Amino acid sequence: MQISVIGAGYVGLTTAACLAEIGHQVLCADSDLDKLKELNAGRLPFFEPHLDALVKRNTASGRLQFTSPAEAIEQGIAIFICVGTPPLENGEADLSAIESVARTIASSARGYRLVIEKSTVPVQTAKRLWKHLSIYNVTGLEFDVVSNPEFLREGSAVGDFFHPDRIVIGAESPRAVALMKEIYRPVLTSQTTCPVHSQCPSSHEIPLIVTDTNSAELVKHASNSFLAMKISFINLVADACEAAGADIAKVAEGMGSDKRIGQSFLNPGIGFGGFCFPKDLQAFVRIGEKLGCDFSLLKEVEKINLRRADQFVAKVKKELWVLRGKTLAIWGLAFKPDTDDVRFAPALNIVRRLLAEGASIRAYDPQAMEKAKEELPGITYCLSHYEAAQGADAVLVLTEWNEFRNLDWDTLSRTVAHPLLIDGRNLYHADEAAAHGFAYICIGKEPHAGTDHVPAANGCEPAPADTVSPVTSASSQPVSVPAVS
Ligand code: UGA
Repeated sequence: MQISVIGAGYVGLTTAACLAEIGHQVLCADSDLDKLKELNAGRLPFFEPHLDALVKRNTASGRLQFTSPAEAIEQGIAIFICVGTPPLENGEADLSAIESVARTIASSARGYRLVIEKSTVPVQTAKRLWKHLSIYNVTGLEFDVVSNPEFLREGSAVGDFFHPDRIVIGAESPRAVALMKEIYRPVLTSQTTCPVHSQCPSSHEIPLIVTDTNSAELVKHASNSFLAMKISFINLVADACEAAGADIAKVAEGMGSDKRIGQSFLNPGIGFGGFCFPKDLQAFVRIGEKLGCDFSLLKEVEKINLRRADQFVAKVKKELWVLRGKTLAIWGLAFKPDTDDVRFAPALNIVRRLLAEGASIRAYDPQAMEKAKEELPGITYCLSHYEAAQGADAVLVLTEWNEFRNLDWDTLSRTVAHPLLIDGRNLYHADEAAAHGFAYICIGKEPHAGTDHVPAANGCEPAPADTVSPVTSASSQPVSVPAVS
């Protein structure tokens, strides 16, 4: 099918390349001429595993081309709208880019168009789009509007496209449903070779959920908000573990073994970030207000998340006391591994707070340093995590990149000024750190530093001493305490 994708950001470019890979003829458009120039020269505006190869292969075969929105709208029978919906001051999504695409479609396209809303939008946006297209229609355009929310995760977006948990189609006409099924047929019937796995995860039937447009739009906001809630919940439980002397890994395992709860998204840490959860949560709260529904639950989810950075900085200060004049190594800046995206990254938030306290920062991230430099010019960027640790009073792990997992502890011991590891992503084991002479502080477990433990400012009262179970794990062995100046 001749498909156009408007918007060459994380969602648009990935969608365009994947649609081309499954055999469609795709025009991917962006109004940013510099971005188009780069894409036409074979350079991607962001890092996403496997995407580079996919774009190269499909541009070489002629199935994927980059062009202006006007041309894409003229040519594509199915038009995916993948433009940005950034947050406004009041938390609502800014829909001006979507409105502008709709007006261009209404005033310039001829014949029939399937207008597919892929950007994350408030419920009832498809209805508004339909009305807008009707009002501005000067060419006798026939059209359908479909909501087809995306569930691609940055860092694994290509794999997610080929192995979705579900495909949701919100449509109001049989013609629109039939065309959408045609577009996704290669994925739904597994008739395509996945470019990510040499052996794909066992093929199961992919649920195709066909519904009205309002429900499809709500699926997206409700899903992201639910996942955000799950993360804030486990972070609360992690606070309780720290205060009570329990182990969040075991608590999460115990909870997640209940199939109704599930193991995923129960990793505690420094909070969720990225361009989806924080803004979608805020937008959903605003939607609730507009609909007259009480969404205070989600406001709490957001508050808990905002506290995570403060709590992490409190942990650092508890160990190092005054941060002025201290050198801190930062491992990881991206909001999650396998991406160079630093938008709403908790790591950046934490680094800003540490800088405000007077610390010197030496940072390393495998992919995100170029983007981080625009936000945080005043820190030292290093070529490896070991280089970042040079002379550090503490190493702070803020993104769980795989390359941080297999640590050469001896090299690290020789590199740091003090053997103190504060792990915001629970990558290591306390006994392993202790065996190499490191004090190890992580999330949701008792710190193993030999210091007097006062729970960090996490809003939890410490449990009375006589109600705290004795900690008997190997990780409670005494370890060396870093010198505190
Ligand atoms: C999220 C959703 O997972 C996708 O389904 C959705 O399509 C996408 O938003 C979107 O709306 O476009 P993404 O933001 O790429 O995807 O990343 P996630 O893997 O969901 O992680 C989001 C944040 O939650 C990260 O900061 C991550 O570190 C944090 N997280 C995740 C935790 O702190 N703990 C967990 O257990 C899981």
